[in-house]
Amino acid sequence: MTDPNLQLKNKVIPIKIQSQVIFKDIIGSGSAMQKIFRIVEKVAVSDTTIMLNGETGTGKGLIARAIHLASGRKDKSFVQINCGATPEGLLESEFFGYRRGAFTGATSDKAGKFEIAKGGTIFLDEIGDMSADLQVKVLRVLEEGEFERVGGNETIKTDARIIAATHRDLEEEVQKGNFREDLFYRLYVIPIMLPTLKERQGDIPYLVSYFLEEFRQKKEDLPTKVSDKAMKIMVNYSWPGNVRELRNLIERLVVLNEGEEILPEDLPEKLRIESGQSAQRKSDIDGEGISFNTAVSEFEKALIISALEKTNWVKNKAAQPWVFGM
Ligand SMILES: Nc1ncnc2c1ncn2[C@@H]1O[C@H](COP(=O)(O)OP(=O)(O)OP(=O)(O)O)[C@@H](O)[C@H]1O
Ligand SMILES: [Mg+2]
Repeated sequence: MTDPNLQLKNKVIPIKIQSQVIFKDIIGSGSAMQKIFRIVEKVAVSDTTIMLNGETGTGKGLIARAIHLASGRKDKSFVQINCGATPEGLLESEFFGYRRGAFTGATSDKAGKFEIAKGGTIFLDEIGDMSADLQVKVLRVLEEGEFERVGGNETIKTDARIIAATHRDLEEEVQKGNFREDLFYRLYVIPIMLPTLKERQGDIPYLVSYFLEEFRQKKEDLPTKVSDKAMKIMVNYSWPGNVRELRNLIERLVVLNEGEEILPEDLPEKLRIESGQSAQRKSDIDGEGISFNTAVSEFEKALIISALEKTNWVKNKAAQPWVFGM
């Protein structure tokens, strides 16, 4: 029987809540993303700090922007800073700005991201990568809404709404002593956990059509279709790089492909191998190739591994019943 999702593959972007401008570039018609959209709508109207968790490429950046656009702050700045990608020495002056002469090369005063984000939103990406020293300073901004520029004594106030994101398990980082507990609790006012692409397989055909359309707009004579078999392989792949990996693959396929249709042989080998393996497992079970007891223990093993993956292999957390319903 054909998977109903596959039949949608070549239709253009059927997003259920398309009417809402803030979600127009975010594909997610399955229940996992719909749940996220509802949370975003609810939290956007308040000024509460939001903590976005999720593996790389799950859309934390997109959701942060959507929260800003759905809030009363949408006409003010949305300022983003990547704590992981910015060199340690630069991060403090990027956050708080500096006074002229504060260090070599500081030839004039400069406002930092917290000042620029006044009235708007500041998005602190990869916050788990911040040094202990900066964690103290950011904690002060969260608690008191104030800071000083590097080399300055004047206290500056900010009312920027804070959205933070990390792909790390910050609770574990606190346990290891790498992240301040007080900052952790200040940040985790409203945590939002973004699902992996594997957890929302049903969205894959929609994402594929969306990205095909996106790249086609750039160049008309690109492939427009994905064969059923190729789509099935993509739906069943584990996508460790999540939506970013899928988007990159579609870009590569449309650029390199000459035919009208994307076929299984056009897909990278790792996708085809993984799909072959899961088909083999399925036929073992269908064809009574394994006993009932073996099937049950395989299933239990898969559940345990999936719970461990969700908790980044923290065993006591994986044993919590809520992990399975996440
Ligand atoms: N639901 C979605 N619909 C459409 N595009 C998406 C969706 N989620 C992610 N993307 C796209 O995938 C790419 C990665 O998304 P994004 O940068 O928001 O992920 P991230 O979680 O912030 O990743 P990282 O942890 O690596 O920074 C972007 O090109 C983004 O536009
Ligand atoms: Mg990001």
